[in-house]
Formats: sequence, structure tokens, C-alpha cells
Amino acid sequence: MATVLDSVRAFFAHAAFTIDQENTGDVVARERLLDRVMGEARFRKSSEKLRRNRLPAEGLALVARDADGHVIGTVRLWNVEAGVDSDGNAVPALLLGPLAVDCQHEGKGIGGALMRAAITEARDRGHGAVLLVGDPEYYERFGFFTEPAQHLVMPGPFERRRFLALELKHGWLDGAAGLLVASGRRLAGELRKAA
Ligand SMILES: CC(C)(COP(=O)(O)OP(=O)(O)OC[C@H]1O[C@@H](n2cnc3c(N)ncnc32)[C@H](O)[C@@H]1OP(=O)(O)O)[C@@H](O)C(=O)NCCC(=O)NCCS
Repeated sequence: MATVLDSVRAFFAHAAFTIDQENTGDVVARERLLDRVMGEARFRKSSEKLRRNRLPAEGLALVARDADGHVIGTVRLWNVEAGVDSDGNAVPALLLGPLAVDCQHEGKGIGGALMRAAITEARDRGHGAVLLVGDPEYYERFGFFTEPAQHLVMPGPFERRRFLALELKHGWLDGAAGLLVASGRRLAGELRKAA
């Protein structure tokens, strides 16, 4: 991870932000940011069913920090099973979200930097595909399209045009069909409130 973040830092050396691993001291700031940017509605999304009481995928909770170290952006990825393949075996994948950037810092490339760092890290860690629900007008620039997810369904209401996937390994989602199911590490009881 250090290598990935170093290269992202170098690329954005001119920018007034850095991309970093989230740590436990960031949790309150991250939740406040999500409340400001997305409000209570974020807890009613179908994606939330795949995140509730789970930890993010190992090494795949990232934040953007301003020059003072304050959290101004967040993205996390979650382990899921993306239906089954043609042999009936579960297809491991990642679900990305929420991605959010503090309103005061929008349009500075922070969302894009978080996305590129997350994708690079996921690829380096050997993951095969990333799924998300979001605006294609934003996510297509990172390689996300509806076609690889066309036979998959979210565990609740979703718009097909906004259900997108990026294969990190060619053909990873070929034949993948069915329901997304949470498969990440479970959150221990006492940690639930903080995460
Ligand atoms: C979407 C979001 C993460 C983008 O962050 P950002 O740091 O402003 O993004 P960047 O600076 O990297 O990119 C800005 C570009 O994306 C475009 N963009 C932002 N949101 C967009 C959307 N929903 N659809 C299409 N384009 C979008 C901007 O118009 C801008 O375009 P330009 O480069 O042609 O000027 C941020 O606006 C945000 O937090 N939005 C609210 C939460 C949200 O909708 N999250 C995504 C769904 S989970």
C-alpha cells in the first residue's frame, strides 16, 4: 500500500490534499462527512445491506486529507460474492461505496484521486472486479460500465443503468449471475458504533 500511496502522492504533489489509509482516528470525521454530503438516505440504500455490520475489505478504506490532515474525502470497498459462475461457484468481488468529497472541496480532483487509488490498490491486492451503484456519467471515466453486471442484482431496489462494474482481471464476471451477498469480515459488537 505504501508504494501505491507514494505514487498517488507524487502524482498529486501539486495538490493540496493527500490520499491515505483510513485509521481509527478518522472514523468520526468520516461519518460526519458522509452525514453532510449524503444525509440519512445513505442508510436506506440497497448497498447498505452489504455493508452493515461488516468491515471494509483489507486495506481498502481510504481517505483524502487536506494540508492539515483533516478528512475531506472517503471511499471504502467491501467484500461481496457477485452471484455464481456457470459452474455454480460464488464469484468473489468488491462493492465500492460510499465515495464522498466534502462540498467545499468538490471539483479539485479529489474524488478522481480516491477512485484511482482504490482501483490500483484493489488490483494490487489481487481482486478480480469492483461493482458499484452510481451515476454512469461520473464512473465511466474510471472504466465502470453496466455490461459486466448485467446478470447480477442488488439485494434491494436499484436502477439497472446505475449498477456498474469494472473487471480488474479480464473476464472475471463472465457468466456471473444472481444476487450480491456480503462476504466481508464481521464487525465485532463493541466496534459497531465506532465504525
Ligand atoms: C461525486 C463526487 C465524489 C465527486 O468528487 P469530486 O472531488 O468533486 O470529483 P472530481 O474533482 O474528481 O471530478 C469532478 C468532475 O466530476 C463531475 N461529476 C461530479 N459528480 C458527477 C455526477 N454525479 N455525474 C457526472 N459528473 C459528475 C464534475 O462535473 C466534474 O467534471 P469536470 O471534470 O468535467 O469539471 C462528489 O461530488 C460527491 O461527494 N458527491 C456527493 C456524493 C455522491 O454523489 N457520491 C457518489 C455516489 S456514491
